[in-house]
Amino acid sequence: MNPVTLLESLFARKAEFDVFPAGADDCLDFSILHGERFFRRWGDGEFHSLMTQSNVFGFSARITSGNPASLGGFVLAREVAGEAEILTIAVSGKYPRRGLGWRLMLAAIRETKARGGETMFLEVDEGNAAAIGLYRKLGFKQVAERKGYFAGPTGEKATALVMRLDLR
Ligand SMILES: CC(C)(COP(=O)(O)OP(=O)(O)OC[C@H]1O[C@@H](n2cnc3c(N)ncnc32)[C@H](O)[C@@H]1OP(=O)(O)O)[C@@H](O)C(=O)NCCC(=O)NCCS
Repeated sequence: MNPVTLLESLFARKAEFDVFPAGADDCLDFSILHGERFFRRWGDGEFHSLMTQSNVFGFSARITSGNPASLGGFVLAREVAGEAEILTIAVSGKYPRRGLGWRLMLAAIRETKARGGETMFLEVDEGNAAAIGLYRKLGFKQVAERKGYFAGPTGEKATALVMRLDLR
């Protein structure tokens, strides 16, 4: 391993994260990370227009040491009439399986409850084992299937699982 890669991996292992409520200042960082983890990147303008809606909320996981604190992951959700929906969640490929997705989802669930939400829904590609593993561990159950819902880079279609968590 070359010295730079070695240093990066040591830093990644040692990094400590905190979870913060998301704000307009996060839009560019969210857009960049979104582009790293999804085929179609949402622009910072798209994040901005979502995050200025009063029923949309989110959280970031940032390294607590370092300036500016680098982004480990984020989640965005929307709550309408007691039902919340996960709009997107992404954790940096530098920090997989470190519990960041779990912590971000718990923050979104807590905020949904605080807003009076009683259920949470999300859609996930049926081939996304990491995300499905995370959602099942949180107690989400599959309630429906949408064939051809997601489109991939070469136009191929993938089935979405609709999953639901009861928060009452
Ligand atoms: C899905 C994603 C958010 C998970 O984030 P993460 O921080 O790595 O996940 P966590 O460390 O919090 O894992 C929590 C649990 O999820 C499950 N999980 C996470 N990664 C997994 C994997 N690669 N395979 C199987 N299960 C996995 C496990 O149950 C894990 O608990 P455990 O480590 O105690 O076994 C992350 O992989 C990601 O950003 N993927 C790309 C974007 C994406 O697919 N978003 C979801 C769209 S619906």
